[in-house]
Amino acid sequence: MKSSMKWAAAALAAGVPLCAAQTYTDCDPLNKTCPADTGLDQWSYSVDFTSGSSAFDQWTTTGGTVNSTSLGARFAITEEGDAPTIQTDFYIFFGRVEAKFRCANGTGIISTMVLESDDLDEIDWEQISTFDTYIQTNYYGKGNTTSYDRYTNVDVTDPNGEFHTYAVDWTSERIEWSLDGTVVRTLEYADAVDGTNYPQTPMVVKLGIWAGGDPSNSAGTIEWAGGETDYTAGPFIMYLESVNITNYSPACSYTYSDKTGDYTSITSSNSTCNATSTSTSEKSTLASGSAVASSSAAVYTGGASSLSIGSAVSVVGAGLLAALL
Ligand SMILES: *[C@@H]1O[C@H](CO)[C@@H](O)[C@H](O)[C@H]1NC(C)=O
Ligand SMILES: *[C@@H]1O[C@H](CO)[C@@H](O)[C@H](O)[C@H]1NC(C)=O
Ligand SMILES: *[C@@H]1O[C@H](CO)[C@@H](O)[C@H](O)[C@H]1NC(C)=O
Ligand SMILES: *[C@@H]1O[C@H](CO)[C@@H](O)[C@H](O)[C@H]1NC(C)=O
Ligand SMILES: *[C@@H]1O[C@H](CO)[C@@H](O)[C@H](O)[C@H]1NC(C)=O
Ligand SMILES: *[C@@H]1O[C@H](CO)[C@@H](O)[C@H](O)[C@H]1NC(C)=O
Ligand SMILES: *[C@@H]1O[C@H](CO)[C@@H](O)[C@H](O)[C@H]1NC(C)=O
Repeated sequence: MKSSMKWAAAALAAGVPLCAAQTYTDCDPLNKTCPADTGLDQWSYSVDFTSGSSAFDQWTTTGGTVNSTSLGARFAITEEGDAPTIQTDFYIFFGRVEAKFRCANGTGIISTMVLESDDLDEIDWEQISTFDTYIQTNYYGKGNTTSYDRYTNVDVTDPNGEFHTYAVDWTSERIEWSLDGTVVRTLEYADAVDGTNYPQTPMVVKLGIWAGGDPSNSAGTIEWAGGETDYTAGPFIMYLESVNITNYSPACSYTYSDKTGDYTSITSSNSTCNATSTSTSEKSTLASGSAVASSSAAVYTGGASSLSIGSAVSVVGAGLLAALL
């Protein structure tokens, strides 16, 4: 968090509009050999966050407590340092993500929906509560933050008071951001520096809130967030009703076969799925189920083994700082 804020200050000092790029990864496949990503091996996944704690079965929570309520998953900032976030335990490789949520209220509070890959491709929705008539769309390719000219502001009615459905439809050819079913932005592959900056590697989905207006942040960051956060006016709460995800390339795992970060370099495999079952029910599922025939000692890793689960929206790696400061 702290370093993110330094970055924010640096960006403002440089006179560029600021957006909160996620710039930390546990293992960047463009620099070294990383473990394969655990994929979603189904075409679609839906979750209703009003349904109780099992709704979080395929998500990892960081930065605070997130609970199922009658309005959906409740993300609350009650004190300095809170940044409740949930992240899928699986990756998708091109797809559609729809999330219905009500952004958090409160000066300086940022609500986000982010798709992010291990090499820091990123597709964002980001709402600054202080400016409650619009929400930003943004994207990054391979962690490239040399300029901040990629965002757009999209008008939205009372994002902190009403639920809206925010969607991203992502293919190898274009990305569409939709608000309540209407496409509000399209990015073609070629428009992102001939594809160089185009998000194109397997992504996890993250949703959460953080306090850009935390009093300990730099003046520049607080200004960007629209003012200082007064925690006594809290708690500041985002509600996430449901998320529907379509994975256009379902598979158990995704591997970067080289260090280009091109989508053509990603290999998908089903060889590690459904392979360790011993129970009768699982065996029968296997037998009747799918093309994956395997009793070999493969390992199904249910978690996001290669991705950081740190504060999703506010972590900046030393590399970027060094580059900027
Ligand atoms: C990966 O390598 C690139 C190019 O050498 C460098 O700019 C980047 O900072 C590195 N990323 C990480 C996470 O170390
Ligand atoms: C809220 O979620 C946390 C995990 O984030 C869990 O430990 C706790 O039991 C939940 N509380 C309720 C009331 O469900
Ligand atoms: C997800 O799908 C369900 C079932 O069709 C629907 O009720 C819900 O509104 C959808 N949520 C989003 C965010 O699109
Ligand atoms: C980073 O993006 C900028 C445009 O925003 C582009 O001019 C530059 O070539 C990109 N750098 C790399 C290494 O792709
Ligand atoms: C958000 O908080 C401000 C300041 O407390 C208040 O004026 C406004 O009505 C609140 N909006 C919503 C939607 O709760
Ligand atoms: C993996 O299995 C899923 C579900 O059975 C299937 O839709 C998908 O095409 C398979 N992918 C590969 C790469 O074989
Ligand atoms: C693994 O098993 C699950 C549950 O039966 C099934 O939905 C999925 O498609 C299977 N995956 C593959 C790759 O066969």
